[in-house]
Amino acid sequence: NSPSPTGNSHAVTYRLQHTDTGCRARLGTLTTPHGEVALPTFMPVGTVGTVKGVTIDQVVATGAGIILGNTYHLALRPGADVVAQLGGLHTFSGWQGPILTDSGGFQVFSLAERVKITEQGARFQSHIDGARIDLTPEESIAIQEKLGSDIAMQLDHVIALPAEREAIADAMLRSARWAERCQQAARRQDQSIFAIVQGGLDADLRRESAERLVELDFAGYAIGGLSVGEEPAEMYRTIDDTIPHLPTDRPRYLMGVGRPEDLIEAVYRGVDMFDCVMPTRNGRNALAFTDAGPVRLRNECHKTDPAPLDADCPCPACRHSRGYLRHLFTSGEMLGPILLSIHNLTYYQRLMTAARQAIAADRYPEFRQQKLAGWQRG
Ligand code: GUN
Ligand code: ZN
Repeated sequence: NSPSPTGNSHAVTYRLQHTDTGCRARLGTLTTPHGEVALPTFMPVGTVGTVKGVTIDQVVATGAGIILGNTYHLALRPGADVVAQLGGLHTFSGWQGPILTDSGGFQVFSLAERVKITEQGARFQSHIDGARIDLTPEESIAIQEKLGSDIAMQLDHVIALPAEREAIADAMLRSARWAERCQQAARRQDQSIFAIVQGGLDADLRRESAERLVELDFAGYAIGGLSVGEEPAEMYRTIDDTIPHLPTDRPRYLMGVGRPEDLIEAVYRGVDMFDCVMPTRNGRNALAFTDAGPVRLRNECHKTDPAPLDADCPCPACRHSRGYLRHLFTSGEMLGPILLSIHNLTYYQRLMTAARQAIAADRYPEFRQQKLAGWQRG
C-alpha cells in the first residue's frame, strides 16, 4: 500500500480532526476501502449478515456508517467459503459501506461449548450443531479475509471476571502473541486488522497490553474484556487507565458497549467506536431508548397514549402513537420489533451525531451533563 495522507500505510486510516478543549472526546474520520465514517460512531450489529429485523435500506436510513459482522457465526453457518462464493460479506448482506468483523474470540468465550484454549488457539464445539472446531489466529484471519470485511479483529483470549490476576495476565499475554500471529497471517491489502487490549480491571496489565500491541503498529486499537458484569464505574476507570497508552493517530474501539450513558461516558474519555446488540435486542423486547430514559412499551400506561416515542425523531416508529406501538407488541405483531429496532438504532445514531457536533463546538462536557441529567430524570 502507498502511504496515505495520514502518514500510515494501513488500508484503514484515522484522521483526527479535533479534540474537545475540556475533555478527551475526539472528532475524526475513518477512511476504509468502502468509504469514510465520521467518528465517534456506533456500529449496528449484523451478527449473521443481517441487522436483525431491519432491511439494509432501513439501516442506511438510521444514519449508520459502518456495521459489524461475526466470524464465529458466519464461519459456522453458512461458512466463509459460501459467503466468498456469493461475493463476500458486502455483496452477501447488501451493505455496501464499511464492515468490521469480530474475530470469534468473544463468541468462543460466550457461546461455544466445551472450550479449550491452548497457545495454538481455541478448540470448541459449535453451539449450533456440536461440531468440533479449531479456531487459531491464522484461521480467524483466513475466515475474515474470505468474508472480505474492511476491518478484521485479531483473535483474542477473553476470560470471565472476576478472575485471578495470573489468569488475567496469561490471557492478556496470549492475546498479544495472537495479535502478532494475526498480523503475520494477513494477506489482503484492502483489509486492516485492529488489535484488542485485554487485562481485566488491572491498570498495569492494561498498560502492558497496550504497549505490546502499539509496538506492533496496528491500524486501530480496541478495548476488550469489558461489559462482562463489572460496575460501570470500573469500566470507565479501566478506559481511563488504557486510553493514555494508545496512539492519538489510531481509532479506539470499545467492544460490546453499551447503554447510551456508557457511549457518552466513553466518548468523554477518548473512545471513537462502539458496537452493541442493545438497540436491536431491546427493540425486539419492546424497550425503546429516549432522552428521558428507556420506555417499556408493553406497560399498561401507554395503552391510550397518543404521543409518539420522541416527537423530534425522524424514524418510522415515531410517526405512530405509543398506544399503537404498544398494541403491536401486545398483539404479537412482527412490525413492533421491527419499528422499535429502527427507532433504537436511529436513537443511537442521532446521539453520536449530537456528540460529534458538541465536540466540534468544544462543548462536549456540557453535552454529557445534559444527556446524563435527562436519562436520570426519566
Ligand atoms: N466483544 C465484546 N468484547 C469483546 C472482546 O473482548 N473481544 C472480542 N473479540 N470481541 C468482543
Ligand atoms: Zn423514532
